[in-house]
Amino acid sequence: MEKTQDNIQTDPLIETTYSLSSSLDAVICGDNLKVMRQFPNDSIDLVVTSPPYNNWRNRRTQKRKEDYWKRTNIHYGVCEDKMSDQDYAEWQVRILNECVRVLKPTGTIVYNHKDAIFNGVATSPLEWILKSDCIYRQRVTWDRGGMQAFNPVRFYRTEEDIYILGKEAKGFKWNKDAAKYLSIWKINPSSKEDHPASFPYAVPARCIEAFTVEGDIVLDPFAGSGTTLKAAKEMNRRFVGIEINHEYVGICQRKVCQANLELFSLESADGLKPRG
Ligand SMILES: C[S@@+](CC[C@H](N)C(=O)[O-])C[C@H]1O[C@@H](n2cnc3c(N)ncnc32)[C@H](O)[C@@H]1O
Repeated sequence: MEKTQDNIQTDPLIETTYSLSSSLDAVICGDNLKVMRQFPNDSIDLVVTSPPYNNWRNRRTQKRKEDYWKRTNIHYGVCEDKMSDQDYAEWQVRILNECVRVLKPTGTIVYNHKDAIFNGVATSPLEWILKSDCIYRQRVTWDRGGMQAFNPVRFYRTEEDIYILGKEAKGFKWNKDAAKYLSIWKINPSSKEDHPASFPYAVPARCIEAFTVEGDIVLDPFAGSGTTLKAAKEMNRRFVGIEINHEYVGICQRKVCQANLELFSLESADGLKPRG
């Protein structure tokens, strides 16, 4: 496997192999299951991730048939995000199982998702989370703030869920100071400038603060625009990102470089030496 000088690893061949050590502080362009299967057991301290939501059947805002895709579905380029409910749930179980396999017993998985409502019936991500090998430790509510109700057929939802999962129910790394955030996090959504569904920096930053110490390894198998990677880098953790869309890998890489530059100027301003 080759790393380009931009630190992007490409996956041109199915046979490409990745080792965790060569993937550290890098973004791998490829399918997360194929890549993670090559990482060893018990090697990652924290997974922070948000998968595509498969919400293509949500007709909430559909006015005309031809507007269906435009209005309701997020496109991730190569990832169509359009599966049957059963296929999607099975895929998510496979991914969670792979995340928990590579997780250290002291580690944590932070999985951002939300209920889907179709034909008036809500389904919860817990339905597949509980079928995975993960231990369900807690749920945090991410309050995204106010929103205009365009078609108010129910209480308009302004929240998403942050599921805190693990390999073990006890003995995981935990910074008690982070308890101050409580279990409802009011954080405004990100601007969506460079990615249609990036989460705000504060979401991964709080999780990294709560569940890791400096030097720990943070993995985001749905890296998107690299928000988790940027937070990890700025907080002096090692990181591994996996993203299937090459365009987004480029954004990740730019974000991680930006983090470097910002860090440099911050540290310079404090009279400290920049990191080598
Ligand atoms: C909800 S977005 C993640 C956004 C990210 N949290 C951020 O802040 O930018 C999900 C991402 O998963 C990527 N993706 C979808 N299927 C994938 C796969 N099999 N392997 C790796 N990445 C995948 C999509 O291209 C998309 O960028």
